[in-house]
Amino acid sequence: MKFEKNILCIGAGYVGGPTMAMIAYKCPLYKVTVVDIDSTKIASWNSDSLPIYEPGLDEIVEGARGRNLFFSTEIEKEIKQADIIFVSVNTPTKTFGSGAGMAADLQYWEKTAREIGQYAESPKIIVEKSTLPVRTALAMERILTSNDTRVHFEVLSNPEFLAEGSAINDLENPDRVLIGSRQTEHGLRARDELVEIYANWVPRERIITSDTWSSELSKLVANAFLAQRISSINSISALCEKTDANISEVAKAIGMDSRIGNKFLNSSVGFGGSCFKKDILNLVYLSRNYGLHESADYWESVVRINEYQTKRFVLNMLTSMFNTLVGKKVCLFGFAFKANTGDTRESPAIYIAKRLIEEKAELVVTDPKALKNAKIDLSGNESNVSYIEDPYEAAKGCHAIAVVTEWDLYRSLDYERIYRSMMKPAFIFDGRNILDHERLFEIGFNVFPIGKSKLTHF
Ligand code: UDX
Ligand code: UDX
Repeated sequence: MKFEKNILCIGAGYVGGPTMAMIAYKCPLYKVTVVDIDSTKIASWNSDSLPIYEPGLDEIVEGARGRNLFFSTEIEKEIKQADIIFVSVNTPTKTFGSGAGMAADLQYWEKTAREIGQYAESPKIIVEKSTLPVRTALAMERILTSNDTRVHFEVLSNPEFLAEGSAINDLENPDRVLIGSRQTEHGLRARDELVEIYANWVPRERIITSDTWSSELSKLVANAFLAQRISSINSISALCEKTDANISEVAKAIGMDSRIGNKFLNSSVGFGGSCFKKDILNLVYLSRNYGLHESADYWESVVRINEYQTKRFVLNMLTSMFNTLVGKKVCLFGFAFKANTGDTRESPAIYIAKRLIEEKAELVVTDPKALKNAKIDLSGNESNVSYIEDPYEAAKGCHAIAVVTEWDLYRSLDYERIYRSMMKPAFIFDGRNILDHERLFEIGFNVFPIGKSKLTHF
């Protein structure tokens, strides 16, 4: 079959995989290929057991794979054949040298740009999917055109706003699709080609276009604003605990102001995930680089409050359990950074677990999807941690439960049964405020929510 367009994506991770699966699913006339340097990951994308857990993803992949969706490791061949190349390789925070712990590590990005430049024999549209510092497209253009100026490359910015756990819905019904381009004739033509792809299923009014730099910056700022809301509500949760105010009541009251809105106001153990911290630090680094220290300090405080919230949670466990956790069994309900994903990158659970181990507690970790990653994150601590998928088994004989991930399943467990199986006094620390605290208290638990008065029997 002759396809209308050949689309390639380099990077088959949490962003590249689902995004390309959706394009292929919605556009049967395009051939969509996803390549990755990791052959095990590609084999997994080609199997019945996909490398990531995402509700609804299996069906979308099954519907398109082998028809017009392909996963491959043949990077050179696929670059040659592609008309449009999406790049979604990872851009982690630098761990070395200048900007360590702050700036984005662009080595994979640059390597990919060089590969495209090396193998391409015909004009290509290059689409930045990864989140990048502002003006990266310029660097990419320079790398691409440094060897052979006969092949024309047009670089577009098209940041991905999907959230894990709801990726399929976010891709199918996005609030907006953002496309940044140069405002030149070539740039606008390339932009229109990308608009055409999304217009196969996204209403035109939701596809917005802008210049490249605004598009790149918008992605960083969107994540920074979302994270800032969580840090704002979390900072108030600390005050609620001191004043007997209730964070849920406060969130409800302020969220009904349509200017504030009611989403992303759930107080928690802190935000995790691969994006928020990385992107804010990136923004901080950029601001400092331009000498804008007040702006940098402002955004940095969002990360600081987040760390404070997670630390506070552990300290609260320690002080509430009579200032010692030595030899006590603590069960973590959830390890993923949020519900409906197996992803544990930057999950607050990692810090919480390590701190509890430092306090010489014995840990039991339960999670419906993230135990494989949890074992990797906590490797080296095998003698202090056990992993049990069944929450009832996991909680058995424990002194405390800490709810770290807001999995729905934890809302509807039989807590009387759990209470009976635990050591007494039994403690429950609800780091997500998803449980019925009054009811737990009646059962006999000592209950410690976030941003609300504790309910104790002593
Ligand atoms: C990541 C970041 O989290 C996100 O902020 C950024 O916008 C895009 O990169 P994600 O898809 O979650 O998004 O990353 P990950 O799951 O690590 O996937 C990246 C993939 O790129 C990996 O499978 C990796 O093997 C692949 N890769 C990396 C290449 O194919 N080539 C390389 O040179 C480097
Ligand atoms: C985020 C952005 O939402 C998405 O647009 C972007 O493309 C990638 O980064 P993601 O990290 O996958 O997505 O999940 P998100 O739902 O934003 O949650 C991030 C973290 O914030 C999680 O740890 C979550 O539990 C926490 N959170 C979220 C809260 O603590 N309280 C809230 O009210 C909302």
